[in-house]
Amino acid sequence: MNHLISPSVLSCDFANIQRDVEMINNSSADWFHVDIMDGVFVPNISFGFPVIKAIKKHATKPLDVHLMIANPDQYIEEFAKSGADILTVHFEVCPHLHRTIQAIKAAGMQAGIALNPHTNVSVLEDVIEELDLVLIMSVNPGFGGQSFIDNACKKVAQVKLLIEKSGSPAKIEVDGGVNLETGARLIQSGADVLVAGSFVFNSDNPTTTIAALKAL
Ligand code: DX5
Ligand code: ZN
Repeated sequence: MNHLISPSVLSCDFANIQRDVEMINNSSADWFHVDIMDGVFVPNISFGFPVIKAIKKHATKPLDVHLMIANPDQYIEEFAKSGADILTVHFEVCPHLHRTIQAIKAAGMQAGIALNPHTNVSVLEDVIEELDLVLIMSVNPGFGGQSFIDNACKKVAQVKLLIEKSGSPAKIEVDGGVNLETGARLIQSGADVLVAGSFVFNSDNPTTTIAALKAL
């Protein structure tokens, strides 16, 4: 039970954002998962800096910011200023990945790399030692509420091996279609952090649902 839970605020009620942030503050969740979508890298637009700042104003736990945007390098400083504690960029949009990781760290944040379902974990081999987080996407990014892609469990196990071999401090996070059943399998495969959006916010009692994920 030492894994972390990062509820995705993408599925919260944006008309009651403070209420939902307080719910997470008072739950057994560990982080806030904050999804940023630009309508270019992914076919959806979520929200930007003003909303991150509003969440940060009330959050008592770290903001785990997942960028699904093209050209993330351009905005690293601004995400740090807005309150991101962990900043994750997608491998698929970073031609100078090593430089991007260094820039995230230089801005005072922890650095994460996300991999789409089709991206092989071997692409991390030469940067794994630099990373604080590896985010395995278990859906195609862009929307909450999609079904879990089973191949993610195999990828988690592969990243785990890579981390053990390299001595990297990176945690393994999984995002998309997480519920009690898929969450249990992910933890068995070696996941350290579970992101859950619709499973938490569409449940009758989100606080109890977070506790159930934490107790897996
Ligand atoms: C998907 C986002 C996820 C999303 C997960 O592109 O990155 O973080 O909020 O939602 P669920 O848990 O509903 O699949
Ligand atoms: Zn996400």
